[in-house]
Amino acid sequence: MTERCDLLITNVHAATMDPSLPGAYGAIEDAAVAVTGNKIVWIGPRRELPESTADQIIDGEGQWLTPGLIDCHTHLVYGGHRAGEFARRLGGESYEEVARAGGGILSTVRATRAASAADLYRKAEPRLKALMHEGVTTIEIKSGYGLDLDTELKQLRVARRLAQHYPVNILTTCLAAHALPPEYDGRADDYITLVCEEILPAVAKEQLADAVDMFCENIAFSVEQCQRVIDAAHHLDLPVKVHAEQLASTGATRMAAKAGALSVDHIEYITDEDVAAMAESGTAAVLLPGAFYTLKETRMPPIEKLRAAGVPMAISTDLNPGTCPLGSLRLMMNMSCNLFGLTPAEALAGVTRAAARALGVCCSRGVLRAGLRADMVLWPMESPDQLAYELGALQPAEIFFGGRHVTA
Ligand code: NIG
Ligand code: FE
Repeated sequence: MTERCDLLITNVHAATMDPSLPGAYGAIEDAAVAVTGNKIVWIGPRRELPESTADQIIDGEGQWLTPGLIDCHTHLVYGGHRAGEFARRLGGESYEEVARAGGGILSTVRATRAASAADLYRKAEPRLKALMHEGVTTIEIKSGYGLDLDTELKQLRVARRLAQHYPVNILTTCLAAHALPPEYDGRADDYITLVCEEILPAVAKEQLADAVDMFCENIAFSVEQCQRVIDAAHHLDLPVKVHAEQLASTGATRMAAKAGALSVDHIEYITDEDVAAMAESGTAAVLLPGAFYTLKETRMPPIEKLRAAGVPMAISTDLNPGTCPLGSLRLMMNMSCNLFGLTPAEALAGVTRAAARALGVCCSRGVLRAGLRADMVLWPMESPDQLAYELGALQPAEIFFGGRHVTA
């Protein structure tokens, strides 16, 4: 019997990233991929393709097909910029010193509060487009530059609106517990009460967030305060993620793992016990080499231990105006190899399969497999190792979003 599908791509090599297939890339050489609706319905060696007809047939010309890339940690909706702070840090001030002097996150909070939703939307568009042009088909966007009810809602609504206008999946995360707003100076517990009792319930009511995040650090919120945010999120049936142990060891990772967090992000200062706790709970590590690089950090996340424990290692831009104004997930892949010692295959897994885990969407995307979304990128390269290695000239030849061809 002849199978009918909407789109058939043949004469490609597929880096499926499917861990059930052999090799670090789960590669299928000389593959064919059939798509119907927004899903992959068949993928395998071309010679095994059942007799098929398709509305559209694409000759992949021997190029490589990968899953659409996933940027699982961004703060890309914000007002203003922090080039002045960049200059101060180049002059020797530390990120913590700038933050404690009222700059850092709080300077972006001032600009974000002052901006209209339309301004925020317009400013976010080029950041989103830069990622999309690199083959990113799923992006997480956090709030956290509002720190009051109206501005947190404004940021999240802008993020949701971007998803309505661009062919990209956007998952939103409420990061109201990002920093202490000035009007709560000296009253951090009261601000956490506002987050738990007003901001999160309002966000949940409008279905504006897919997850809840928090900044658990000496310059932000304590483990006890973050535990309250986790409890409030769980009460609203929202999964959690934690900015954990970027600047110091705090116990945040163990707390997050115990709570079944989707991911802990940064984690430069975690211990062996923390790694064991993550492995046990299935919490993904999100590595943010761009923030590490921008802050000129020297303490690396314990890659070898995460690898040995089988913890999924996602890689993301952390795109934000302070610690990583670098809107390129491909650059992060390169940095994860050069700065953290990941292999090129781990770097690709970090922006596909592991990133899907970090967002709790691995049942629908992150690998090329029948039944999953047809978010795919065709690359003019001879080896998938080139993706982490070669920037600039190597750009997507074609991008498919839910089986739909979008302009690369
Ligand atoms: O992930 N760690 C906290 N949040 C961001 C930095 C935000 C900022 O400096 O504006 C981060 O690195
Ligand atoms: Fe971040």
